[in-house]
Amino acid sequence: MTVRVGVIGVGMIGQDHIRRLTRVLAGVEVVAVTDVDPARAADVAAGVPGVKVHGTGKDLIDDGAVDAVLVTSWGPTHEEYVLAGIAAGKPVFCEKPLATTRAACRRILDAESAFGRRLVMVGFMRRYDASYRALKAAVADDVLGAPLLVHCAHRNPSVPDIYSSDMAINDTAVHELDIVRWLLDDEIAAARVLQPRRNSRAAAHLVDPLVILLETAGGALVDVEVSVNIGYGYDIRCEVVAEGGTAALADNPGVIVRSGGRWGGAVPVDWRERFIRAYDSELQDWVDAVTAGSATGPTAWDGYAATVVADGCLEALRTGERVPISLGDRPSLYTRAVTS
Ligand SMILES: NC(=O)c1ccc[n+]([C@@H]2O[C@H](COP(=O)([O-])OP(=O)(O)OC[C@H]3O[C@@H](n4cnc5c(N)ncnc54)[C@H](O)[C@@H]3O)[C@@H](O)[C@H]2O)c1
Repeated sequence: MTVRVGVIGVGMIGQDHIRRLTRVLAGVEVVAVTDVDPARAADVAAGVPGVKVHGTGKDLIDDGAVDAVLVTSWGPTHEEYVLAGIAAGKPVFCEKPLATTRAACRRILDAESAFGRRLVMVGFMRRYDASYRALKAAVADDVLGAPLLVHCAHRNPSVPDIYSSDMAINDTAVHELDIVRWLLDDEIAAARVLQPRRNSRAAAHLVDPLVILLETAGGALVDVEVSVNIGYGYDIRCEVVAEGGTAALADNPGVIVRSGGRWGGAVPVDWRERFIRAYDSELQDWVDAVTAGSATGPTAWDGYAATVVADGCLEALRTGERVPISLGDRPSLYTRAVTS
């Protein structure tokens, strides 16, 4: 079976996912696209033979030729399309965020629970990164003992002028907010945000760098450095300190050059380069699950948790206070603590 996918929102990541669905992955074809910008939709469709352009996301979801839906429009529009996908009984891959508010995410949890089985996967692609998977396996191994601390760093070379301090949490650190839940199989219970002296390269409106301190329900402490004007490249670091040892992401696979009395390797230029294989694996896993009539990957509950924790971090940034975080009741559909 070939899974026939419709894509809602064909901007930067939508086009990148269309490229991988049509040129990299197996068992899938893109049969429909839509965008609020019709010219952009037509432009993208011109590069995908046989694809149909729909006027609205709702029309695309209702198209009988669409088996599964990829939502890559702007965050505030995700709720509407995910709910429509569930109402149509179609599998939905939704780029993060699942939705932009706690209440909207809850409506999705309720709708999927009422449907009775999982249809939604959320695009937290780091869970498919080979290095993070090896780190999770090391943490799960009894040899290290219980994890106590996690040190994370998320460094960007630069950001555009429109980038705000809220985006440092909602768009940048949100990947750490998800990955530490997954790594530790634990939920976040409180957050603080600390602000050191501002990087002089940063725009005046920006808190950069910032440090997020998270407490997990199980008692681990997590620090996340977010630096978005670091200049030297895109650098993702994560080290777990456990009772009897540590495990950390290694530097990227590549070449170490020794020359002129020095040694070194390359730092990725951006997130696309760093996580390109993770995006491929993530979407192939989704396509394979749709083909098998099952579900996989980060759940709507994971999307909900990320939004709620990010909200707590935003409050901590605004107030400077420690903010307790409560996820509330977990619907029975999402039984496992934190999914793979
Ligand atoms: N997982 C990741 O690492 C990752 C990376 C990049 C972006 N994203 C997420 O993907 C989403 C899209 O990001 P982007 O960078 O591609 O943005 P973008 O602005 O480049 O593209 C979004 C597209 O959606 C269209 N759109 C907006 N509202 C729409 C609607 N109601 N119906 C149909 N189309 C609509 C826009 O016209 C635009 O073409 C965001 O939620 C973003 O957070 C995730």
